[in-house]
Amino acid sequence: MTKNIAVIKGDGIGPEIITEAMKVLDAVAKKYGHTFNYTQLLMGGCSIDANGEPLTKETIDACKASDAVLMGSIGGDTTTSPWYKLPPNLRPEAGLLGIRKALGLFANLRPCVLYPQLSGACPLKKEISDRGFDMLIMRELTGGLYFGEKKTETVDGMQVAVDTLVYSESEIRRIAIKAFDVAMKRRKKVTSVDKANVLESSRLWRKVITEVAKDYPEVTLEHMLVDNSAMQLVRDPAQFDVMVTENMFGDILSDEASMITGSIGMLASASMNETKFGLYEPSGGSAPDIAGQNKANPIATILSAAMMLRYSFDMIDEADAVEAAVSKALNDGYRTGDIMSEGMTKVSCSEMGDIIAKAV
Ligand code: IPM
Ligand code: MG
Repeated sequence: MTKNIAVIKGDGIGPEIITEAMKVLDAVAKKYGHTFNYTQLLMGGCSIDANGEPLTKETIDACKASDAVLMGSIGGDTTTSPWYKLPPNLRPEAGLLGIRKALGLFANLRPCVLYPQLSGACPLKKEISDRGFDMLIMRELTGGLYFGEKKTETVDGMQVAVDTLVYSESEIRRIAIKAFDVAMKRRKKVTSVDKANVLESSRLWRKVITEVAKDYPEVTLEHMLVDNSAMQLVRDPAQFDVMVTENMFGDILSDEASMITGSIGMLASASMNETKFGLYEPSGGSAPDIAGQNKANPIATILSAAMMLRYSFDMIDEADAVEAAVSKALNDGYRTGDIMSEGMTKVSCSEMGDIIAKAV
């Protein structure tokens, strides 16, 4: 098969980790007889430097014309980088939010798995980490507080800032369907996270999720308040299979879930629209403090590329092969600095890419 992949390396460690993911994709292409064509595009800080804006129409159009988008990371140090002296709508993050909206990527899938080889890196008590966990956060990505009307104004001489949390029935229904569909392919449990004891939008959320659940009699649905969910994640993460939640709750809980896997450098993510089209990126940020030092962990990006093979290209064997190659590298004791522990072999970002590509 021939697939056209839009590649956004981005800022910070982005170029390094994407280079390794492309190495692994090339190994897949060679082994399975595919052709992957890459189109390099700018977004985020590098686009601000080149074009004066974080996201150009050219980048959006090129992404739309591709079969999938592979992205590294965007943004810089928010206290020192000149990008953060710009108005909010011209900063790197505005590019990321803009592309999510422009491509209609309303469903963000963030799998969080504690690899048995890395259970030592999990900050939870051993009796909890020994049980392991394998969950997927389905985060709504184009609604809620992120995209509601916002303003800052002066009322009676006092500055007042407003963000609006809006969800329509159809926005909730389409993410619910994605969550139940994924649960059917997993352990058939959905935990819907909301704040229905306080928020109107959460009460609608709960109602629509409950309606959608009727079409999936095999799936067990539970509702959980977001504050309790934050607690349950560190008390007993193994209880979760698929967690579905609105944009802001998902942003916060997915960082918490990633922390208990040992390193954010291990977590892949996929952002999808109604079709098989998606944007694939690691959950971690641009880590400007280690950029350009060949130290970053490329595994999250490589696993994101595996998600692209699986969800956008229907290349199941190929995706399995990449995931198995990652497991093999870990089993063989190779570690980047962030997941290093005693007795293991410390490798650089590019060495890790070589090892995984070879194992494919
Ligand atoms: C994420 C990030 C983004 C978000 C930022 C960079 C805008 O934290 O992908 O989780 O809040 O969605
Ligand atoms: Mg986040």
